[in-house]
Amino acid sequence: MTSLPFPAGSCLPEGIERVLVTGGAGFIGGAVVRRLLRESRAQVITLDKCGYASDLTSIEAVERELAEAGGGPEGNRHRLLRVDLADAEAVDAAVREADPDLVMHLAAESHVDRSIEGPGAFISSNISGTFHLLQAVRQHWQGLSGARRERFRMHHISTDEVFGSLGPEGRFSETTPYDPRSPYSASKAASDHLVQAWHHTYGLPVVLTNCSNNYGPWQFPEKLIPVVILKAAAGEPIPLYGDGANVRDWLYVEDHVDALLLAATRGQLGRSYCVGGHGERTNRQVVEAICAQLDALRPAGATHSRLITRVDDRPGHDRRYAIDPARITSELGWQPRHSFEDGLAATVRWYLDQLDWCERVRQQAGYSGERLGVAG
Ligand code: NAD
Ligand code: DAU
Repeated sequence: MTSLPFPAGSCLPEGIERVLVTGGAGFIGGAVVRRLLRESRAQVITLDKCGYASDLTSIEAVERELAEAGGGPEGNRHRLLRVDLADAEAVDAAVREADPDLVMHLAAESHVDRSIEGPGAFISSNISGTFHLLQAVRQHWQGLSGARRERFRMHHISTDEVFGSLGPEGRFSETTPYDPRSPYSASKAASDHLVQAWHHTYGLPVVLTNCSNNYGPWQFPEKLIPVVILKAAAGEPIPLYGDGANVRDWLYVEDHVDALLLAATRGQLGRSYCVGGHGERTNRQVVEAICAQLDALRPAGATHSRLITRVDDRPGHDRRYAIDPARITSELGWQPRHSFEDGLAATVRWYLDQLDWCERVRQQAGYSGERLGVAG
């Protein structure tokens, strides 16, 4: 399955035996953990506070699948450390316990609308949390010796939102100046700067990636694509912010995982890589494409697009994001494997099959699909 240039059947190079994935109970981190369990022999340790957007159902299913395939329950290579990055001592203890060869840092508060309502959690998790992790990882790395120290890396997973907002032309690349404009993107930009500073000052071996909008299975249903699928399926108004002409550059989550594994293991130290799949669409195009899928899969007498409802715009709404992925393509050979049309069709089908899961995670989170992020 994997197209990565590693030993047969593995998504990791030789010698990487223990991987610490922060945010492994979230959407993208969960996809990373599942891939590592299925396509490597490494021990995978998830560090996550298990917040509102977390769910382990998909990872537990892979654990069962691997146990049935012969590993048995005692062969389980996944462990969860339920730790809040805001707690420096707990982070330090978790990194010592995990004893990683590779750290993939995905844990973050990730929803722009929630950052508008409550920026404090973003400062705590994304900035202080990254600081605590960097300190713990630096201590761990300094205690390693020989080949383990040579091989060790920390990969910081970030977003294209740190670059701000584009006009109708141009794309973000690794040399675009930072210009974050929401509490979320400002907190991610700050974390990127901390990671680079730990590299330049202490020599910590780091790699960074800045990716565009992800979509796919197991995403907590508060962001555009799952919100629209669930609203359309329920026959409820579909909220389109502002004029619906804002552009995002969509990437299927498994294509992002390919890029992350390449960057984490083969990226040049101290370097950042922009990741995006040439998937630019206006929000209106995305919403209409989902409605067309629903019309085919769940005919409702009238087209689902009648439900599209213009609502107040997001405060400070970035107009356009688009990524030029030339560096990761030419240096690391990354290419997306899914077109937007195929990825979206698979995602719509997945959510329609998983309405019970959506209901359960929304209930657990105390969220019922209401509008978030209208500044008071
Ligand atoms: P998510 O919200 O689905 O998952 C984030 C996970 O991090 C959750 O399980 C949460 O509990 C955990 N977490 C948050 N704060 C924590 C803390 N203080 N301590 C421990 N765990 C904590 O997010 P996602 O969409 O999977 O995003 C993962 C990473 O990828 C984030 O760093 C995000 O900035 C970045 N990113 C996301 C996208 C996207 O489109 N979703 C695109 C580019 C980059
Ligand atoms: O670009 C990468 C970023 O993409 C990640 O760093 C973030 O973690 C991730 O949440 C995402 O941020 P966005 O703000 O772009 O994603 P969201 O799905 O919240 O919104 C996508 C677009 O759709 C945006 O222009 C706002 C609009 N929107 C969103 C929602 C939830 C709507 O029109 N209606 C909605 O109900």
